[in-house]
Amino acid sequence: MDHAKTNEPALMSLLEAARRAAQQAYAPYSRFRVGAALRLTNGEIVTGANVENVSFGLTICAERSALVKAVSQFGPEIRVEAVAIANLNEAASPPCGACRQVLAEFILPDAPVIFPVDDGNRTMRFSELFPWAFEMKLK
Ligand code: THU
Repeated sequence: MDHAKTNEPALMSLLEAARRAAQQAYAPYSRFRVGAALRLTNGEIVTGANVENVSFGLTICAERSALVKAVSQFGPEIRVEAVAIANLNEAASPPCGACRQVLAEFILPDAPVIFPVDDGNRTMRFSELFPWAFEMKLK
C-alpha cells in the first residue's frame, strides 16, 4: 500500500489502541503479548488481546479475540474496515493463518491491515495478505 495510507492518522490511532490492548494479554507461557484493534464500518473500535491456556492449543490470538468480541457486542452484521496489530516484544507479528481465515468472514477486501515487521510496521490490504480464503459455495 502507498506510504500516505500507511501513515493515515486514523490507522496510527488504531495501532495505538492495539498497543494498549496488548497490555491486557494473558501470555504466561510464550510471554508474547499481542493486541489487535478493529475499526468497524459502524465507527466502533473493538480491541482484543491473546489469551493463552496451559493446554497451549486452546490459546486464542489477539485478532480472533477482538473479532469474537466485536460480533458478540454488535451482532453478525458487523464489517471490519481496518485492523491494527501490535505486540509488546518489538517483534514482527503478522496475523497468523487461522486469524486471517477467521477475519475473512467479516472484513472488507480493501481493509488496510497494519502489523509489525522487523523494521517498523507494514500495511497491506486484506485481499493482498490473504488472497485465497476458503469459501463454501455449494452447487
Ligand atoms: N498470537 C497472536 O495473538 N496473534 C497471532 O497472529 C499469532 C500469535 C499469540 C498466540 C500466543 O499467545 C502467542 O502469540 C505466541 O504464539
